[in-house]
Amino acid sequence: MPASTLIKNAICQLPGGAEQIDVLISQGKILLDPAVHTSAEETIDAAGLHLLPGVIDDQVHFRDPGLTHKEDLHTGSCACAAGGITTFLEMPNTKPATISCDALHKKLDLAAGKSVVNYGFYIGATPDNLAELQQAKRTPGIKIFIGSSTGNLLVDQQEALERIFAETTLPICAHCEDEETVRNNAAAYGGGKSVEDHSKIRNHEAAVIATKRAIDLAVRHNHHFHVLHVSTAQECELLKEYQQRVSDPAKRLISAEVCPHHLLFNVDDYQRLGSLVQMNPSIKTGEDNERLWEALRRGEIQVIATDHAPHTLEEKDQPYPQSPSGLPAVENSLALMLDAVNRGRLTLDRLVECMCEAPAEIWGILNKGKIQHGYDADLVLVDLNLKKTILNENQLTKAGWSPWHGVTLTGWPVKTWCNGVLVYDGKQVHRTLRGREVEFDHSV
Ligand code: DOR
Repeated sequence: MPASTLIKNAICQLPGGAEQIDVLISQGKILLDPAVHTSAEETIDAAGLHLLPGVIDDQVHFRDPGLTHKEDLHTGSCACAAGGITTFLEMPNTKPATISCDALHKKLDLAAGKSVVNYGFYIGATPDNLAELQQAKRTPGIKIFIGSSTGNLLVDQQEALERIFAETTLPICAHCEDEETVRNNAAAYGGGKSVEDHSKIRNHEAAVIATKRAIDLAVRHNHHFHVLHVSTAQECELLKEYQQRVSDPAKRLISAEVCPHHLLFNVDDYQRLGSLVQMNPSIKTGEDNERLWEALRRGEIQVIATDHAPHTLEEKDQPYPQSPSGLPAVENSLALMLDAVNRGRLTLDRLVECMCEAPAEIWGILNKGKIQHGYDADLVLVDLNLKKTILNENQLTKAGWSPWHGVTLTGWPVKTWCNGVLVYDGKQVHRTLRGREVEFDHSV
């Protein structure tokens, strides 16, 4: 690997907007000072291409340890590298679940030996692991399943939720679907007869009740809080109301995320794709899709993340409700959003804010998320004109399928650098490379 690489002639997505400048990668860092550029060992002519900060995906499930027939930290991270993701933050519903500092440290050790890109892991809340949540350090924050999903993590009792919000200091994120509403709906639909029932059981009301409840907890306890995978228009209204109440953006403690599948799929897709689009929260309606795009453009939602949740096709093939919820997405999320840029759904500047800058800011990840002098050289070169079709047989996720199989997108990553090292060259991932544990500064 060259010690220094000069990327010439790319249009760089800088914090202030796009600019054609040369970027030097040296000793793992970004250098924008033109005076040093003559000494580069390797030069890449990137005319006609765009250089973006590496994507930070703040919600993935890589199933390691315990469920590695679906995915593991190596295969998941390879899929990230090919997709332009240089840092992932992984969820605690593995086996065992990451609900203690000990389990967290074991996962970090596993990742050090397996992950091609940079990594961080949330610690999961249970009704009685407050002491672990208080002691945890090497983590972006606490994940609460306010409604249950894959695995058995659940905290839905008000008293336990009050204690977690009152007595911990790490940022909190939550899966917001109201458990009681989901249970009642499931009973009303006889447990669910076909996959279409999934969106009736995990309906709008379930998502809205839980998101409202979590926002209320965060506001009362003055706690930094991130709403994961917003799926309804009504939740966008709740976020808008919050922003109107807290008009100064610097004083806002609540942020929110949307996933590509909630932007791009709706209940009409069950007929074609069946359980491949069965997710928690469920996909909703075409009107919800439109309102989510609007929320993203307006800044009511700040982050785009995948909720990459691989299951095997055999598992997915089981009849509903045995079919598990979740779909893989890390290697296609950036391309899906670049394609959306080409379709005029969002600007490239906004894409970079939502996929790179905001996740770094929200989780206190220093020196990442921006093309800035001295920042870590986590970078992705993209070709906005490249057309490629997503095919199951090309997927690097161990699950080996994508709900977007057969879809042709315009706009793809062509090279990914992680810590200044080329991990994806447009054809293959350099699988022997290893990423680093991300450091979080929660004082910012
Ligand atoms: O559909 C989902 N699957 N939603 C989640 O929140 C969890 C995920 C999984 O881990 O399978």
